[in-house]
Amino acid sequence: AFTPRVFSGIQPSGGLTLGNYLGAMKRFVDMQGSGIETIYCVVDMHAITVWQDPQALQKQTRELTAGYLAAGLDPTKSILFNQSQVPEHAQLAWIFNCVARLGWMNRMTQFKDKAGKNAEKASLGLYAYPALMAADILVYHATQVPVGEDQKQHVELTRDIAAKFNHDYGTEFFPMTDPVIEGAATRVMSLRDGSKKMSKSDPSDASRINMTDDADAIAKKIRKAKTDPEPLPSETAGLAERPEARNLVNIYAALSEQSVDAVMADVGGKPFSEFKPMLADLAVAKLAPISTEMARYMEDPAEIDRILADGAGRARKIASPILKKTYEIVGM
Ligand code: ADP
Ligand code: NA
Repeated sequence: AFTPRVFSGIQPSGGLTLGNYLGAMKRFVDMQGSGIETIYCVVDMHAITVWQDPQALQKQTRELTAGYLAAGLDPTKSILFNQSQVPEHAQLAWIFNCVARLGWMNRMTQFKDKAGKNAEKASLGLYAYPALMAADILVYHATQVPVGEDQKQHVELTRDIAAKFNHDYGTEFFPMTDPVIEGAATRVMSLRDGSKKMSKSDPSDASRINMTDDADAIAKKIRKAKTDPEPLPSETAGLAERPEARNLVNIYAALSEQSVDAVMADVGGKPFSEFKPMLADLAVAKLAPISTEMARYMEDPAEIDRILADGAGRARKIASPILKKTYEIVGM
C-alpha cells in the first residue's frame, strides 16, 4: 500500500487564467492541510516544449509562484518548488520514454491540439510531454493528482506507464495514480465561445479572465460574455443544453464555494442583466485580493527564490531515493 500523497503542477507559460485558478490552484490549496502530504510544482520544463523567451520564463516562474502563495498555498504545509531544480524529474522521464509506446503518445489529444496542422514542426519535447508528466507524478509515488478535465488523458497515460513498468520489471514499485477531477469548475469555458476551454493561449483576451485583470476589466468581460437571450432556467437541469449559461453558473458556484444546485436555487429565472453583475461582483471580490497579494510577493523576488529553493530541497529528499530504487530495478 502506498501512503496517500498529492502532486500537481502548472506551467509558467504566462498569464494565469480563472480556469487555472478554479480548475487547479484553488483546489490545490483546498487539499492542503487535510492530513495528506501535498506537493505542488511550477513545471518550467513543460513550458519550454514551446518557445519561451528566457527572461520572460524566469519572470513567469516567479509570477506563478507568487500566484500560488497569493491563492493561499502555504510553503510550510505544502512543498512548493520549480521542476527544473529537481533533476530527478528529467532522469525518471528518460526511463519512462523507454517504457511508453509510440502508439500511446499518438493518441494524446493535447499534442494534436497544441501541434496543430503542422505537427512535423512541433518539438520532440511537446510530443514526449506526457512521459515527463508521468515522471513528475511518479517520482513522488503520488497517489492523487488534482487536475482539470483536459489533463485526464495524461493521468491515464501515467497509469499505463506505471503498469507497464511494473509488469516489465516484475515489480509493484509504482502506484496507480488517481486523477482528482471534482467540483463545478473542472472545465471553465471561454467567455466568447462555450465550446472552447478558457485558455491563456486563446488569441482573444476577452475570452478569459486573467488573474491580473483589474476590477473594471473583469466586470467588462463578464458583461460582454456571450450568452443566449433567455433568462437563466429555473432548475439546474435546464442548463444542460445551454453551455454559456452553464459556464457562468459553474464559475459562480466555484467562486462562492456552493453547489450548482444551491446557486440555481438563488439565481434560477433571473435574466443575465441581473445575474452578470452578481457574478462580476463576486469575481472581483474573490480575485482582487489575490492579484494584490501577487503584486506584493513580486516586490521581493529573492524571497520567492528562497521559497522555491527550500521546496526543491524537500522535494529531492522524496524523489532521490525513489529514482535510486528505479535505477536499481532497471539494472543501472
Ligand atoms: P493551460 O492549460 O492554461 O496551458 P496548464 O497546462 O499549466 O495550463 O494547466 C494547469 C492546470 O490548470 C491543469 O490542471 C489544467 O487542467 C488546469 N486548467 C487549465 N485550463 C483550465 C480550464 N479552462 N478549466 C479548468 N481547469 C483548467
Ligand atoms: Na492544460
